[in-house]
Amino acid sequence: MAGCNTLTDTILESPSGNLTIEFQLTANGTPSYQVTHKGEEIIQPSTMGFDFNDQESMDSGFEMVGGSERTFKETWEMPWGEQRDVVNHYNEMKVQLQETEAPNRKLDIYFRAYDDGVAFRYYFHEQEGQDVLTIAQENTHFELTDDHTTWWQPGDWDIYEQLYTESRFSEIDVEPYQSNSANLIAFYIPENSVNTPVTMRTNDGLHLSFHEANLWDYSGMTLRVNKEEQRFESSLVQSDRLGHAVQRALPFATPWRMIQVAENAGDLIESRLVLNLNEPNKLGDVSWIEPMKYMGIWWEMHLGIASWDYEQTQDMTTWNTDEGSSVRHGATTENAKRYIDFASENGIRGLLVEGWNTGWARWIGFPDREGVFDFVTPYPDYDIDEVVRYAEEKGVQMIMHHETSAAVRTYEQQMDTAYALMQKYGMHSVKTGYVGPIIPAGEYHHGQWMVNHYNLSTTKAAEYQVALNIHEPIKATGLRRTYPNLISREGLRGQEFNAWALDGGNPPDHLPTVAFTRMLSGPIDFTPGVFNIKLEPYRDNNQVNTTIAQQLALYVVIYSPIQMAADLPESYEGQPAFQFIRDVGVDWEQSIVLNGEVGEFVTIAREERETGNWFVGGITDEVAREMTINFDFLDPNAAYDVVIYKDAEDAHWDDNPTSINIEEIEIDHTSSLTIQLAEGGGFAISLLKR
Ligand code: NOJ
Ligand code: CA
Repeated sequence: MAGCNTLTDTILESPSGNLTIEFQLTANGTPSYQVTHKGEEIIQPSTMGFDFNDQESMDSGFEMVGGSERTFKETWEMPWGEQRDVVNHYNEMKVQLQETEAPNRKLDIYFRAYDDGVAFRYYFHEQEGQDVLTIAQENTHFELTDDHTTWWQPGDWDIYEQLYTESRFSEIDVEPYQSNSANLIAFYIPENSVNTPVTMRTNDGLHLSFHEANLWDYSGMTLRVNKEEQRFESSLVQSDRLGHAVQRALPFATPWRMIQVAENAGDLIESRLVLNLNEPNKLGDVSWIEPMKYMGIWWEMHLGIASWDYEQTQDMTTWNTDEGSSVRHGATTENAKRYIDFASENGIRGLLVEGWNTGWARWIGFPDREGVFDFVTPYPDYDIDEVVRYAEEKGVQMIMHHETSAAVRTYEQQMDTAYALMQKYGMHSVKTGYVGPIIPAGEYHHGQWMVNHYNLSTTKAAEYQVALNIHEPIKATGLRRTYPNLISREGLRGQEFNAWALDGGNPPDHLPTVAFTRMLSGPIDFTPGVFNIKLEPYRDNNQVNTTIAQQLALYVVIYSPIQMAADLPESYEGQPAFQFIRDVGVDWEQSIVLNGEVGEFVTIAREERETGNWFVGGITDEVAREMTINFDFLDPNAAYDVVIYKDAEDAHWDDNPTSINIEEIEIDHTSSLTIQLAEGGGFAISLLKR
């Protein structure tokens, strides 16, 4: 790592020189940048600026008053992750700007060029007579060079549980989502914008993905679609309650605005740019965080067989009706023991229990949900002491559940007590949830007030050695590097939609799109592993729109250090395919993307830490495919016991989803294998080192 040098020009090259980012001031002193890849422009000159609530906009009249550059290179180790060692190598340029006229405000912009993308962030100085800055809007532009193919979801301020659409940039239209969001309890799409990560492919086959890193004490950025100018424009989630986007004490730096650039789709997934743009681990020793597979008293609620509430007034089939429910309460001591027995017999380390605490009879559908949950009082049929004792005896870790119902202030008041209870029981992870419109009204899940809440929950939980799996979260922006207790989150249309979505569930191209969009931001609690794919006899109008072989592949393809075996114990009983779930790793030495095209298919190979076992998973959309896999990534000096789980000849996501062939095969580092994937299908391979 070299020291800082004074700038000679304002063109910054990435270490290999493949990417450049150039800063300029326009004729009227507006900050502007542009990006090239191998000499070709990929972002045209794009202006930057800010509007404030209580002072003039910052968007012109600047001169450059200084600048510096430096090179940085390090290799850091992930305590858990897709790989162990991460190389962080970039060149950085700082430009210092000041207005030529009073009040002569200052603004610094930091640019970074990596070989797998570029990023920049703004730094606001202390200003004379001003301690706090109130931002109405950030005006960062991304001028596109063409009408790229785009995989996008609407710029929803409340939820990321929308399906992706593939279209040309000029065809992005969020309007159909306004009427098609019937399953979402809270959603808000105020303009024609997209959420990030949003991924694009140019006509030359270059892939770009736009996102942000290190979202801290700031509001989430959506990207407004300006079709006339063919550009994205930053559009910050607002607080309608407070009347601004961001309010923060000076000085501070904004999150990084980042663009991943890759010559093929798979390289997007292998990139660790979003992590490299975050600060190193601040928690120190996090050996209490244990990557694991887990089961849950969960799917039975989504199938409508059991209720969350003891009162049995609400379940997924009689939702919000006066009928009441006839189904049993799911979270009982007895049922928990049944799951613990099954998990323990099958080497599944964790068990989540939802609906264990009082309050569920009023968890959604009521405007006033403050004080409904206290996160410490179990229902009378759930003996938490006994469940924890029994789990410990059987070698199973209990996973806590905190559904906040978006009554955020209630949760903040309870956090210490709630995490302290977990500490008392030796529980090291919690699944949190934020279903419903945020209380207080006028706040949105993705605004600064909620960003600060999610971050408070992260740091507070860490004090109690608690790791978080957040549902209805803020998007991941790489903060898991700094706070490794951020182990996973939802923030996508997960498996649960397959149980009850009115549109019949996630279409087969959903996950091959997610892998190149949502997954670029961080781990996903998708909850794979449904074996009763037709959901019989529970759901007549729904099913999981994949084959069972694809359900297995998801353990490798969709990354998370905690992976659920989502189905009921009875669905796994006597199923040979369950062996893959028993075997598959959750923590990786390295990950390699073997093939992939956005929205179509992807195959990933991952080497397990400590054991050296490899696992390969491949998935396809609604198109049947033949794939040839080379195994040259295997250790040439090792022998492996290899089992392939693949779609049988007659398999099909709709007609015949559970038709699977399981074979022992011979594979070494010289092998190649041609595999047929059914429509909506996939394959999984376990290679256990002998
Ligand atoms: C929504 C979560 O995504 C789901 O997994 C959970 O079961 C419910 N909220 C209840 O907390
Ligand atoms: Ca959800």
